[in-house]
Amino acid sequence: ATVPDLAGRRVVVTAGGTREPLDPVRYLGNRSSGKQGYALARTAAGRGARVTLIEANTQLADPAGVDVVHIGTAIQLREAVLKAAADADVVVMAAAVADFRPSEYATGKIKKKDGQEPAPISLVRNPDILAELSADRPRADQVVVGFAAETDDVLANGREKLRRKGCDLLVVNEVGERRTFGAEENEAVVLAADGGETPVPYGPKEALADTVWDLVLQRLG
Ligand code: C5P
Repeated sequence: ATVPDLAGRRVVVTAGGTREPLDPVRYLGNRSSGKQGYALARTAAGRGARVTLIEANTQLADPAGVDVVHIGTAIQLREAVLKAAADADVVVMAAAVADFRPSEYATGKIKKKDGQEPAPISLVRNPDILAELSADRPRADQVVVGFAAETDDVLANGREKLRRKGCDLLVVNEVGERRTFGAEENEAVVLAADGGETPVPYGPKEALADTVWDLVLQRLG
């Protein structure tokens, strides 16, 4: 039986991938399925936590016993996270947030014209929600967890990202063929700001989620 070791805790989990609109019919997006974030939300609820799941563009049904907030863009995600984080013990940023968004939104569909070169798409930076939240915690004892997908120098890049973002834990995935995007399984290393390094072998996303909650629990007052 599952131990309710997160009872009384409020946790916020983000899942999925943001979409940044170009015009009413087009967007810039990414391949995040949201499955890891949903696994985190389900396992936390199963362990007794009060869970707010902030969902961006997944195809997944709302998990039972979880408050779900549906958003689309990085700007909307930031607003929802900052609001929910205000009284949370833990925030886990599993969503893939677009680093950039189109600098302009066309209110009418962008048309192709014969004999004309396509117009370039110009981008502006999105706010880094994880870095902002880590630097400016609404509660000093809040535990903040980030995710990173890396293709090479996984550990060195992960350490550097953990430092740059200022979070407590960073779950580093190696992006590959059968891993991470859309898959049911995952393999990762969880890096901790205090120097800890926890490898999680290839397996169900729930198993990685439970390891994340175990490490979070060790850091909660
Ligand atoms: O910098 P990178 O996108 O690799 O960092 C990934 C981590 O940072 C994830 O936890 C993601 O949710 C978070 N992130 C964010 N805001 C951004 C970009 C990423 O919170 N603009």
